[in-house]
Amino acid sequence: MLVLGIESSCDETGVALVDTACGAVPRLLAHALYSQIVMHQAYGGVVPELASRDHIRRVLPLTQEVMAQAQRALGQVDLIAYTRGPGLAGALLVGAGVACALAAALGKPVLGMHHLEGHLLSPFLSADPPEFPFVALLVSGGHTQLMRVDRVGSYELLGETIDDAAGEAFDKSAKLMGLPYPGGPHLAKLALQGDGAAFKLPRPLLHNGNLDFSFAGLKTAVLTQAKKLGLELESRKADLAASAQAAIVEVLVKKSLSAMAQTGLKRLVVAGGVGANALLRSQLNAGCQQRGVRVHYPELEFCTDNGAMIALAAGMRLQAGLVKLDKPQRGYTFDVRPRWNLAELQAEPAFAG
Ligand code: KG4
Ligand code: ZN
Repeated sequence: MLVLGIESSCDETGVALVDTACGAVPRLLAHALYSQIVMHQAYGGVVPELASRDHIRRVLPLTQEVMAQAQRALGQVDLIAYTRGPGLAGALLVGAGVACALAAALGKPVLGMHHLEGHLLSPFLSADPPEFPFVALLVSGGHTQLMRVDRVGSYELLGETIDDAAGEAFDKSAKLMGLPYPGGPHLAKLALQGDGAAFKLPRPLLHNGNLDFSFAGLKTAVLTQAKKLGLELESRKADLAASAQAAIVEVLVKKSLSAMAQTGLKRLVVAGGVGANALLRSQLNAGCQQRGVRVHYPELEFCTDNGAMIALAAGMRLQAGLVKLDKPQRGYTFDVRPRWNLAELQAEPAFAG
């Protein structure tokens, strides 16, 4: 079966095609991505209306590019999947509208996907895919969650942030230091030249015994430190960046290791944009190696938002028998879910069309 996936939840338009007939995991035939980052940089963050309008411009040319790359015709596609949420409402509506219009024109079923399920399953696109069950650390711009994953569609929340997400902590700290949007990768680059122990920044909820996170206080601590430094900030920026990164990473690593201990599972999957962070990867690798835990990451290009993870997740649902193609329930009317809890997913009906 050929599954087309369309992602448009935030500031990246992604389209991909997978084939579910070639093995235990769907095979990626082609994918294309357009990132709006440069457009939003002038505003210091994502402007939702501009994001929606740009998705409209990109989504069909990207779809044509993917079909050409894969040397397939749209008529051969068996299922069209799109990101139904969570994300920016207007941006989601573009992907949903285009997916449903295409499906209606082709007489094919559609399937609304959960963006975080895409992130969570994205390591299955790598050459060394994980096996179920595993613990997943989901660290994106909007989410920080630890989940227990027993199989496709079975997601149990173990802990999550009570305020800001880890990506937000990176981005807000970076903004305070005058770095461009999105701040995470810029802050990580600057931190390479700094000393992570230079400033003592808070590690909230580190020892509270549960698996919840809190990052809102960190931004205030970085701001206070920056103000204290005054004119000296410019020469100490790398140290402040390294210290902020060290604080975020230490909390993510300790909580992930606690989740491994609490569940007794031996596999950890790291997904979402912050999963690209090199310090996080090296510290997780070291901590997990000591405990006999294997860590899986998506390929770097699939860490941040992309269409491949949406096509893959839909293909995996199809392979797992969670999609009933023969019983269209919703027709081609569609809705989006800007706020949507991943743990609710298993209870949802999974009829396509
Ligand atoms: O998963 P993602 O692409 O989008 C959301 O669904 O939110 O994650 C984007 C987030 C941003 O906060 C960005 O700054 C962060 O991931 N990020 C990083 C790195 N690369 C991306 N944070 C730290 N270090 C990185 N290398
Ligand atoms: Zn994302």
